[in-house]
Amino acid sequence: MPAIVHSLEELQGIRETWRSAGESVALVPTMGSLHEGHKALVVEATSQADRCVVSIFVNPLQFGAGEDFDAYPRSLHADEAFLADTLVDVIFAPNVEVMYPEGLDAAPSLSAGRVGDTYEGTSRPGHFDGVLTVVKRLFDYVNPDVAVFGAKDAQQLFLVQQMVQDQNFPLRIVEVDTVRDSSGLALSSRNAQLSETSLAQALEIPRALEEASHQPSAKDARNRAREILESAPGVGVDYVEVVDPDTFQPGGDTGVGEPARLIVAVTIGGVRLIDNKLLHFGQ
Ligand code: PAF
Repeated sequence: MPAIVHSLEELQGIRETWRSAGESVALVPTMGSLHEGHKALVVEATSQADRCVVSIFVNPLQFGAGEDFDAYPRSLHADEAFLADTLVDVIFAPNVEVMYPEGLDAAPSLSAGRVGDTYEGTSRPGHFDGVLTVVKRLFDYVNPDVAVFGAKDAQQLFLVQQMVQDQNFPLRIVEVDTVRDSSGLALSSRNAQLSETSLAQALEIPRALEEASHQPSAKDARNRAREILESAPGVGVDYVEVVDPDTFQPGGDTGVGEPARLIVAVTIGGVRLIDNKLLHFGQ
């Protein structure tokens, strides 16, 4: 049964005990409302290090005005129960004052740079600055040897990897494949906000990704996915693009067998959903 820790002092005390014993630590940063996708992150994390911390914090800095910060599901007790049969050692669940003792307005913000202003960042200005700010802070607080992130948030993962590389953080980032339900829908805490009708409409997302993966080129893949999503009832398309996974720049018509990532964002019943798929052309 993981220990629930709310304060920085307690977290750092535990961290110090582990360090003295020469134990390695993995961190799984989350915003809670845990589901099987998070479980996959936890399973990977606990296999990568001696100790595992799951952080649960709905980070106000990554939500813009009018976004779903207030509506974002919060369920600490259910999350504790969900992790009860895992090898997680600590659930770190700070409040805003613990996370940002200087106050939200005074917290120095990291910049996610140019890639941070594209795709998710175009529709959610400042979102990735907020993500990197909290992730860096969690790295400082937990001091992990490994941090585990899901591939579903591909742009987030790219930017975190870039930050770790640029700033020479002494830790490894591990990526875990997206977990899908039996109909192919990527698991997301936001799925809980979908009505039955919206859930059915959301199945067009995995269908678009799958159909795109059978196309001969990045351009065809993008067009096919766009066609499916734009004609799907109830689905509002934000973006459908193919990017180079190494740069997150549009393109993907690279050499034969080189991977390209199809990324999509849509709104269904007022809920924003993102997904992506790694594609290989010309094989
Ligand atoms: O992916 C998420 O749940 C969040 O963006 C993260 C990484 C926990 C930062 O708040």
